[in-house]
Amino acid sequence: MGYNVAIDGPAGAGKSTIAKLVAKEKGYIYVDTGAMYRALAIHFLKKGISPEDTAGIVGACGDADVSIRYENGAQQVFLNGENVTSMLRTEEVGNMASMTSPVPEVREKLLELQRTLARENDVIMDGRDIGTNILPNADVKIYLTASVDTRAQRRYDELKEKGEDCDLEQIARDIRERDERDMSRETAPLKKAEDAILVDSSDMTIPEVVSTICSYCR
Ligand code: DC
Repeated sequence: MGYNVAIDGPAGAGKSTIAKLVAKEKGYIYVDTGAMYRALAIHFLKKGISPEDTAGIVGACGDADVSIRYENGAQQVFLNGENVTSMLRTEEVGNMASMTSPVPEVREKLLELQRTLARENDVIMDGRDIGTNILPNADVKIYLTASVDTRAQRRYDELKEKGEDCDLEQIARDIRERDERDMSRETAPLKKAEDAILVDSSDMTIPEVVSTICSYCR
């Protein structure tokens, strides 16, 4: 059994940035479960399935194979043998992942992959239901959050840096909408596990968040 750190929280809380740094410092593998939902979302988009078409999504799960490999410590995601890692982080794919991840068959499809990675490796795994559902016996559970305004500003700065045109108000609206969807769904909604440690990063620097989380880990 690996040593398992679960890190859940809303979109834009900085989970992946922080988890990658903690993984490096502690020698864990970083498992980004959102990337798995995004890979399935690419599969549905490629097939032209609408997010409302639950039967179509369930059917399409049957011919999707998502797998993970690590290259120089970086997670690479494969969809039916194709490396789709560079296609995962668009708004279109993120929204499709958010709209299709409530479907129980979608979650079921990825559950075993996530649990196997945690069984076989020391991991820090980020997502929405890791501490509550995937790894209920994780050694450490963190719920990482930040205010909507902070998360919107971070996303805005990130996009501006990439030279993309964006609107802060629109980003904040999208974040609220995504939170609402992730937290109110029936299957495995985003919520803090009772035994998770709450870390609100609104007024913390990245090194402060990393060292806080590292202080709880072996
Ligand atoms: O963390 P992310 O933005 O890459 O995740 C994309 C979507 O996938 C997110 O809106 C909700 C869903 N997701 C999930 O339901 N469960 C997870 N463990 C991870 C992501």
